[in-house]
Amino acid sequence: MASSQFAIKQIKSQPYSDQHSGTAGLRKKVSVFQQPHYLENFVQSIFDTLDFTDNTRLVLGGDGRFYNDVAIQTIAKIAAANGISTLYVGQNGLLSTPAASHLIRCTKAAGGIILTASHNPGGPDGDFGIKWNIASGGQATEQLTEAVYERSKQITSYRICELPTLDLNRIGSQRFGEFCVEVVDPVTEYAELMEQLFDFELIQAHLKKRIQLRFDAMNAVTGPYAQQIFCNMLGAPPTSILNTTPLADFGGLHPDPNPTDAREIVAAAMSESATGLYAASDGDGDRNMILGPGMLVSPGDSLAIMLANTVVVPGYRSGVPGVARSMPTSRAVDAVAADLGIPCHETPTGWRFFSNLLESGHIGLCGEESFGTSSAHAREKDGLWAILYWLNMLAALEQPVTDIVTRHWARYGRSYFQRRDYFIADTDQAQSLMGTLQSSVNDLPGSSLGTAANINFADEFSYTDPVDGSVSEHQGIRIITSSGGRIVFRLSGTGTSGATLRVYLDKTESEVSRQAVAPAQALAELGTVAAELARIKHYTSLDEPTATI
Ligand code: G1P
Ligand code: ZN
Repeated sequence: MASSQFAIKQIKSQPYSDQHSGTAGLRKKVSVFQQPHYLENFVQSIFDTLDFTDNTRLVLGGDGRFYNDVAIQTIAKIAAANGISTLYVGQNGLLSTPAASHLIRCTKAAGGIILTASHNPGGPDGDFGIKWNIASGGQATEQLTEAVYERSKQITSYRICELPTLDLNRIGSQRFGEFCVEVVDPVTEYAELMEQLFDFELIQAHLKKRIQLRFDAMNAVTGPYAQQIFCNMLGAPPTSILNTTPLADFGGLHPDPNPTDAREIVAAAMSESATGLYAASDGDGDRNMILGPGMLVSPGDSLAIMLANTVVVPGYRSGVPGVARSMPTSRAVDAVAADLGIPCHETPTGWRFFSNLLESGHIGLCGEESFGTSSAHAREKDGLWAILYWLNMLAALEQPVTDIVTRHWARYGRSYFQRRDYFIADTDQAQSLMGTLQSSVNDLPGSSLGTAANINFADEFSYTDPVDGSVSEHQGIRIITSSGGRIVFRLSGTGTSGATLRVYLDKTESEVSRQAVAPAQALAELGTVAAELARIKHYTSLDEPTATI
């Protein structure tokens, strides 16, 4: 509790009805967070739900986007009024999501608050978000976020301490009575962890003579991390890293490492002169995109290839006890897990579902199709970690990206994968489409899909956590055709307006001579079937997806 020099006030407020967390925290337009007491109510609801005792440590930081600076000052004042003893804040308010997760563990904090809307656009007209993590470093469970939501609908006041404005530029302690703010370098602990997991000497030697790296930080949080790790520690030339200054509006870029939004790095990888490894990360540094000359490595393949090559990466040399992928992610990793004789868990979309599996030692690697991969080293997905894993593989295997990938396909088959997104402005229409699918799903097996195939299996995915037994229902419609193709339908849980229908297609091709076909072609028929089955045109008036990844 702060001393009387810094008075604590109880401020009256009205509850908001929309503080429901989605796939990864509370994400809204900046203007929504700017409403009177909106941020304060939500943060107080977290403190009320967790009921922290005195002497609690907390981590706070974000991806540097617009409104981070304002929110940090406010959250610090609320933390001081709610019994937090030490608040660890990244210098200039910066902490990547994986670094924040790691810092929670290093400082033995009770949790952390991460200010980010991940890859969503930033700036005054963009999005803002609050994610909060628990003592394990992992995201709050669904049960906890639901409890905070319930609390937020009841809340009538919050507590705030009258502190002076924090100097976030100055590393070190700032004490306000019994409340202490520790401004820490956001990179140090994280970089040390990376050094323990990967063969830095080997990577350094190869970056010097053989491997060329091109990394795009997209004006988001990973710039300072890339500068320290890739350039200062691994000796990559300064030209290896692009867009490394974190900016409040990301310099107008949309920091999502996918072929549409990270065009610059994709074009470089596709150029005639391309060589080595090309990569990008997102707003808060938890996503990654890996490319080699002329090739994008699909996230599902990346996870499978990492698992197949643990033996060449020091931190993973003795293998992993199991793996997990989110349900819509391609089944490429399943084949490797089967080969290794280890379990492969299928979880709902959203990183938080991996937390218990990682914490309990069920799994050592996990990933999602949405450019997210990580391991038991953190409780969040980790973009730079994935890039270092690939650098380590390239250096140890002494093969280019393309050879590593095509050899993998030859052995395990190629898992063709596409995600087709349909943005639907009218959320009722999107709900009707999903509702119709949900009510007909039991009748689908045995029915025919035009010329394409019959449906062998269909269900609505429900997940029982093997660690705590909690059940998460309505996690998407799964359909498997008689030719082995799979279609998944679900609605996005991270948008801040309208609805996005996600249609996931995947199909494995074992015949090497057919593995060079482009995904769009390999999955064309399955895509038509999916559109007809869900009557997408009827519900949305859309002929084509608004984005395909
Ligand atoms: C999306 C991705 C999901 C990821 C989440 C947060 O969620 O699909 O894999 O965990 O962003 O980065 P969605 O919008 O589909 O609910
Ligand atoms: Zn992210």
